[in-house]
Amino acid sequence: MNRVKTGIKGFDKLIEGGFPEGRSFLISGGTGTGKTIFAIQFLINGAEEGEPGIYLTLDERPELIREDMLRFGWNIRKLEDNNMINIIDGTIAKIGIPSDEEFSLPATGFDLDKLLLELMKAIKKVKAKRVVIDSIPALGMNFENEHDIRKAILKTIYLLSRAGVTTILTTEIDPESKRIGKYGVEEFVSDGVIILYYMGLGTQSNRTLHIRKMRATKHSEDLHPLEINEQGIIIRNIDEDYNI
Ligand SMILES: Nc1ncnc2c1ncn2[C@@H]1O[C@H](COP(=O)(O)OP(=O)(O)OP(=O)(O)O)[C@@H](O)[C@H]1O
Ligand SMILES: [Mg+2]
Repeated sequence: MNRVKTGIKGFDKLIEGGFPEGRSFLISGGTGTGKTIFAIQFLINGAEEGEPGIYLTLDERPELIREDMLRFGWNIRKLEDNNMINIIDGTIAKIGIPSDEEFSLPATGFDLDKLLLELMKAIKKVKAKRVVIDSIPALGMNFENEHDIRKAILKTIYLLSRAGVTTILTTEIDPESKRIGKYGVEEFVSDGVIILYYMGLGTQSNRTLHIRKMRATKHSEDLHPLEINEQGIIIRNIDEDYNI
């Protein structure tokens, strides 16, 4: 089985060298836990390895993503110019204002099939190997009931798997139902689940990562300290000597 290296320091060795190729993985966690940074770092590192990627944003506007990621030294605009990363603006359908992005949805309301068509076109155009969908809950907002949302998630994951790309989908932990995902389906249809936690302990805060499932992989079952610094995310071992 081919492994797709995330390139996130300290992470690949926890999953036998990388994600199983061509599958879909869920990054789940509360707000501000680092889901978006993790997902973008996966694309940036892929681009550096010569693997083009697509970032479908349903939450944050592309301009803000580009600006925020510059903080880590990641020049997304430059990678877009070289066709190594494409951003699809899916934020616009929700609010009905036309986008000035090259890839976006029409401002005439949300249409899953149009979105998936746009995604497949972009995958073909740049010969993408990696895809990120950020986020599932923002995608779900476009549907009236959970049944339709689940169908949409299933269809999306099925098409991505047929296209042979390795995908990260971000989602939220639902604290009330204790579900790993928001809709009770994404964790079952994805091939792996990574949970990011942020806990306040006394006067300190504490970020951790847990690999909850990774099909076809002997993975770490520990809680791993996660650090966000000026280079992005770093994953540590609990017994590792490091400075907070
Ligand atoms: N340059 C930086 N250095 C250290 N930490 C940072 C830096 N930039 C962002 N962070 C941390 O990362 C968090 C944002 O991470 P990210 O946007 O990936 O979270 P998220 O899980 O996607 O959140 P959301 O649910 O809002 O989408 C910030 O709240 C902050 O704590
Ligand atoms: Mg985010």
